[in-house]
Amino acid sequence: MRTMVAGMGLMGSALADALLQQGLPVTVWNRTPERCRAAVEAGATQASSFAEGAQNCDVLISCLTDHEAVTQSVITSDVGEALAGKAFVQLSQATPDQSLTFADWAARHGIGYLDGSILGYPKDVRAGDCFIIYSGDPAVFETCHDVLHAMGAKPRLVGEKPGVATAFDKAYFAFYYAHAVGLLHGAAICRASGVPLDGFLDLMVEAYDWRAADRISADALKSGDLAAREATLETHAHAYNQVALFSRSVGADTGLADAMDRLFQAGIDLGHGRDEIAALIEVLNPRRD
Ligand SMILES: NC(=O)c1ccc[n+]([C@@H]2O[C@H](COP(=O)([O-])OP(=O)(O)OC[C@H]3O[C@@H](n4cnc5c(N)ncnc54)[C@H](OP(=O)(O)O)[C@@H]3O)[C@@H](O)[C@H]2O)c1
Repeated sequence: MRTMVAGMGLMGSALADALLQQGLPVTVWNRTPERCRAAVEAGATQASSFAEGAQNCDVLISCLTDHEAVTQSVITSDVGEALAGKAFVQLSQATPDQSLTFADWAARHGIGYLDGSILGYPKDVRAGDCFIIYSGDPAVFETCHDVLHAMGAKPRLVGEKPGVATAFDKAYFAFYYAHAVGLLHGAAICRASGVPLDGFLDLMVEAYDWRAADRISADALKSGDLAAREATLETHAHAYNQVALFSRSVGADTGLADAMDRLFQAGIDLGHGRDEIAALIEVLNPRRD
C-alpha cells in the first residue's frame, strides 16, 4: 500500500520512519517543506503539493497540530478528489465533534475514514511498540491493516462511529496527566522535604505496581458494586488529607491536593464514605435521575 504522511513534526516523522522500516512506500508532505529532508534521506518521496501526494497514495495519514491545520491542508476539494476511493487515517489532535466533520467530508468524497489517537511517544512509534487506537469503518481498518501495524504493534479499533477514538483519547488524557502530575507532586514533596528524590522515583517508576490499585477500581466500576472491600473512601480521604497538610508545611504547592481533598469530601457528602474510592465516579459524573 502506498502511504502519504502529512506533517513532518516530531510525531509525523516517527510515523514515516516506522512505515519505511516496514518497507512501505512513503510520500511525505509538510507545510514547511525543509522539514521533509530527514524522511527523504531515509527513503521517502517528497510530494510537490498536497494534492499531488494524495493522488499518488492509497492511504493518507495526517499528523498535524490540530483541527485548524487539518482543515487548511487536507479538507480541500483537490485533496477530496485525489483521495476518492482511498483511505484517510486522521491522527492529528481533534475533539470528537471535529472528527465527525472530517468523517462527513470523507464520506462526501467516497473516502474510507478512520480517526485515531496515538497513546505513546515518537520513540515508541519508531520502536514499533506504540498503542494507537482507532474508530471508524471496520472494513477500512481491515484494508489498512499492514499500514496500521507498521505504525504501532497494537492497533485497536475502539468503535465504529468516528469520534469514539478521539473521545477515548480525552479519557486517556484525564488518566495520564493526573498520573503524570501526581508523580511530579510526589517529587516536589521529596525535594521540598529533603527526602531522596532518586529513591522515590526508582520506587514509583520501577518497583511499585500502581496498577494493582487501579484494578480494584476497574473491577468495582465494571461490576457496579462500589461497596468497600479493601479500603473505604473515608480511609482514602483521611490519608490524602495528610498530603495537603504536609505539602503546606514543607512549602510545596497545595493546589492539586486542595482540589483532590474537595473531591474526596464531595464523595463523602454524597453518602459514599463506606464505599470504595471508585465511588468518586458519582462526583465526577453525577447521575441526573
Ligand atoms: N509528540 C508526541 O509525543 C505526540 C504523541 C501523541 C500524539 N501526538 C499528536 O501528533 C500531532 C503532531 O504532534 P507533533 O509532536 O508532531 O507536533 P510538532 O512537532 O509541533 O509538529 C506539528 C506539525 O503540524 C504542522 N502544522 C501546524 N500548523 C499547521 C497548519 N496550520 N497547516 C499545516 N501544517 C501545520 C507543522 O508544520 P510546520 O513544520 O510547517 O510547522 C508540523 O508538521 C498532534 O496532534 C499531537 O497531539 C503527538
